[in-house]
Amino acid sequence: MPTIYVTRRIPELGLSMLRDKGFTLDVSEKDGVLTRDELLGALRAKPYDGVLSLLTDTIDAEVYDAVPTAKIFANYAVGFNNIDIPEAKKRGIVITNTPGALTNTVAEHAMALILACTTRTVEGDRLTRAGKYEGWGPMMLLGMDLAGKTLGVLGAGRIGSRLAHHAKDGFDMNVIYYDVKQNPDFEKATGARFCATVEEVLRDADVVSIHVPLLDSTKHLMNAERLAIMKNTAYLVNTSRGPVIDEVALVAALRAGVIAGAGIDVYEHEPALAPGLAQCANAVLTPHIASASVPTRDGMARLAAENLIAFFEGKTPPNAVQ
Ligand code: GLV
Ligand code: GLV
Repeated sequence: MPTIYVTRRIPELGLSMLRDKGFTLDVSEKDGVLTRDELLGALRAKPYDGVLSLLTDTIDAEVYDAVPTAKIFANYAVGFNNIDIPEAKKRGIVITNTPGALTNTVAEHAMALILACTTRTVEGDRLTRAGKYEGWGPMMLLGMDLAGKTLGVLGAGRIGSRLAHHAKDGFDMNVIYYDVKQNPDFEKATGARFCATVEEVLRDADVVSIHVPLLDSTKHLMNAERLAIMKNTAYLVNTSRGPVIDEVALVAALRAGVIAGAGIDVYEHEPALAPGLAQCANAVLTPHIASASVPTRDGMARLAAENLIAFFEGKTPPNAVQ
């Protein structure tokens, strides 16, 4: 039966599915991300048949060399920018991800960040705890209503579509979007207007939410020039991958009032923040928890296990990306 290395403890549901099928699991005992040397050392220890990896593990040629017996890497994430896919392809290694399971949870977190920014919830919480609340004030912490405003979605995949639904059906927002391909189903479901360029979205949106994968073509999709196109009353939300935003440029834009604020869950060099970001009162910052609900993390564990089980039963894993 297959022996799998698991680079960090994930919800028990997925691990017991694998054990029930007779898999042997070696689960990293470190409560944290393995360093490069720890990861390579762990993988060299045994001729593992497969690896269950996390988005915090960089999987590349050196890793494949460390465990040449492993023919599948099941990534516990929808994003797989941490994995060298062309190199896997060259070696005939299968890569899987966990799409679908986290769609609604991430969309809800994006909505939470939007609301936290526009209702100034976090600023209000800080003020209240600091003992600075001196009674109701007509001009205190004024925010922005969402009804009638325009949500600009960059990337109309599953998560972007779900957020558009929440925004339109829950908050009476208009939706516009940019994607590399026009998406008629998305338009039908949300009444969204397709914009031929990112710039058109940025010009017209009151809230911009990013839902693209991290690719060479999306790195620094939001840079100083594009931030400057946004309305100075608009908010930027990112629950995708940090490097999609030039974070130094974002800090400058937040400080200078180029945009009104930002809700950010992912960082360019996480867990580090760009200098000054933590001091921006108009930013709401969460620690890459957009998919962190109990049922969703169970669902991701289930999908990762299903992918491994299918592979070792000789089937095509349901979520093979390569
Ligand atoms: C989380 O960031 C994921 O890609 O699943
Ligand atoms: C998000 O859930 C995705 O499946 O892309």
